[in-house]
Parts: sequence; C-alpha cells; structure tokens
Amino acid sequence: MKIKNNDILIKVKDVKIKFNLGKENVSGIKEYVIKLLKKELFFQEFWALKGVSLEVKKGEVFGILGFNGAGKSTLLKVIAGVLKPTEGKVIIKGKVAPLIELGAGFDMELTARENIYLNGAILGHSKKFLNEKFNEIVEFAELQEFLDVPLKNYSSGMVARIAFAIATIVDPDILIVDEILSVGDYKFQEKCKQKIENMMKKGVTIIIVSHSIQQINELCTRAVLLEKGKIKILDKTEKVVEVYEAK
Ligand SMILES: Nc1ncnc2c1ncn2[C@@H]1O[C@H](COP(=O)(O)OP(=O)(O)OP(=O)(O)O)[C@@H](O)[C@H]1O
Ligand SMILES: [Mg+2]
Repeated sequence: MKIKNNDILIKVKDVKIKFNLGKENVSGIKEYVIKLLKKELFFQEFWALKGVSLEVKKGEVFGILGFNGAGKSTLLKVIAGVLKPTEGKVIIKGKVAPLIELGAGFDMELTARENIYLNGAILGHSKKFLNEKFNEIVEFAELQEFLDVPLKNYSSGMVARIAFAIATIVDPDILIVDEILSVGDYKFQEKCKQKIENMMKKGVTIIIVSHSIQQINELCTRAVLLEKGKIKILDKTEKVVEVYEAK
C-alpha cells in the first residue's frame, strides 16, 4: 500500500475500552472455579476509554497528555493493535513500531544478546536481518559490555535503551512512544530525541505520550488531553498544554 502525503494514517473512531475488575478477593484457583460455576463471581465494569475519536496524518507528531490513569497507555495499545476496542473502530495505514511497555516482548531471564533476537523476531525481522543490524543495535544502546548479562540484572534505563534500539532499526510509517524516553538518562534521552527528529524529517508519523510538557512542546504540533477516558481538548500543542497546566 502506497502512502501519500496528507493521508490519514491513524483513525480512531469513538473507541471505548472496558476492563473487568475483579470485585472480590478470591483466595485461590479452587475458590475461583467454584464461584465461577456457581455464578457467584461478579466483575465491576471499568471504562478506561469512553468514546475517543482522533485522526493523525502522515508526518504529524501528535502528543498525548493526561494525569495518571487517564487512559493514555490504553489508547496507545488500541492504536498499536495490542488491545481490541470494546466499541468503536481503529483504522491504521502503514507499518507500526510500538514502544509501549518497557520490556514487553523481553524475557528477563535471557541475556541482552538473546533478547535482541527474540524481540526482533516478535517484531517480524528475520535472523539474517538481525545479524546484519546487530552491531547497529548494540552501538545505539551503548551496552556492549553487558551483552551477555541477563536482562533481569539491567536497570530500567538499560532495558529502555535496548528496546528503543531494536524498535527503531527499521523505518516504520508510524512510531508509537509511551513515556519510554523518561527512564533513560539525560544523554540517552537526547540521543532518542535526535533519532525521533530524524524520523520526523523522513516523514514518519509519531504519536507520543509524555509527562514532560517540554518534550511535548518541542516535538508535537498537535496534542490531545485525556481526562478519565475522555478527550478534554484536542488542538494545537500550545493550547492543549495551557489547559493541562491550568489543571
Ligand atoms: N488490563 C487492565 N485491566 C484493568 N484495568 C486496567 C487495565 N489496564 C489499564 N487499566 C485501567 O485503565 C485506566 C487507564 O490506564 P492507563 O494505563 O491507560 O493510564 P495512563 O493514562 O497511561 O496512566 P499513567 O500516566 O499512569 O501511565 C486506569 O484506571 C487503569 O487502572
Ligand atoms: Mg501509561
């Protein structure tokens, strides 16, 4: 599928997401099954997204702001296809590189080297391609000395470096970034920012969640402010930030 300038790459149409929260404390699997059979198990419905609509065009850098629990990560997961909307629709055009949950797709018992191949395979890359890109990934992550250390002994910033390096070896049409930059140290954040800016120049569409107003201000042209699963305001970044800061 050929993508043209001005194409809408992300279309979110009245998306609602419902989670079932376990309401009672069940002490074990046996009690759970008994309660399930007796139909005594009740769930509390929780709507994390209550009808969200937005469109992002090719080449746009779009920010998502909101307090903890507002539904930002949930929205990114629906866009990435990790979560299916309970109601509504998501239409995506192009290849998506999601940087969503830190280390999702990683096996913490395995070494960084093993995880590069594992995660690369999950992202759909062949062994041959990963062999070719291996050095580039390691160099970008700057973790040469730690390649054969299990990931469980990494700091969260180190895990983020590897995740960012793997996710960005191919040029996606859409890059989805959830807060990942905040765990890296200052220097790595700068490096990621530069890489994102390079992607911007190449016309990659980016959707980014950040608690850093400065980051959103610097990178995004438009943004949305989520509040309890609803859109409070969707506009030019400066207007959205103004509303967010007044909260
Ligand atoms: N798998 C799940 N099961 C049940 N509830 C969930 C699940 N995932 C998210 N939620 C709930 O949905 C709401 C929105 O969560 P989400 O992770 O999208 O928030 P967020 O805006 O990303 O917050 P933060 O700034 O803390 O990252 C929260 O109340 C959360 O508890
Ligand atoms: Mg989140």
